[in-house]
Amino acid sequence: MTEPTIKHLDKVQAILKKNDFQTARLIPILQEVQEIYRYLPREVMSYVAKELGMPAGEVYGVATFYAHFALDPKGKHVIRLCNGTACHVRGSEPILAAVREKLGLAKGKNTTDDLMFTVETVSCLGACGLAPVMVVDEETHGQMTAEKALALIDKILESEKA
Ligand code: FES
Repeated sequence: MTEPTIKHLDKVQAILKKNDFQTARLIPILQEVQEIYRYLPREVMSYVAKELGMPAGEVYGVATFYAHFALDPKGKHVIRLCNGTACHVRGSEPILAAVREKLGLAKGKNTTDDLMFTVETVSCLGACGLAPVMVVDEETHGQMTAEKALALIDKILESEKA
């Protein structure tokens, strides 16, 4: 029986089927499931565990072990600021502060309440020559300044309104 409160369970079921309900395929299964929700909701992990016939704790264990898996909801747009040495030296921190302030993110929060933006810091992205570097939805922007970063956010907000 499926819980009607969980959305997209049919898609999760299709992923499980495609992977022959094999526990050995847990990681690729979770990767695909994460693509649906942009994170791994707890109730969906329980569902996956039940369908694979394994303890839910084991599934959570795998999800928490790999940094690649997100356990909290992420925003529609993900902004990553590099905080590696080169970017740090060239002023990534004030950019981060400006971005967080613009999005009204209180201390300890990385995602806006409307789930529109998530802001993260990452270690060296391997583009130090372009420092400071900011990645917006997988697109890399170099030689960032707070002004440029805020303009990029405005652009996204505009396109969301359109
Ligand atoms: S330190 Fe930021 S790209 Fe290397």
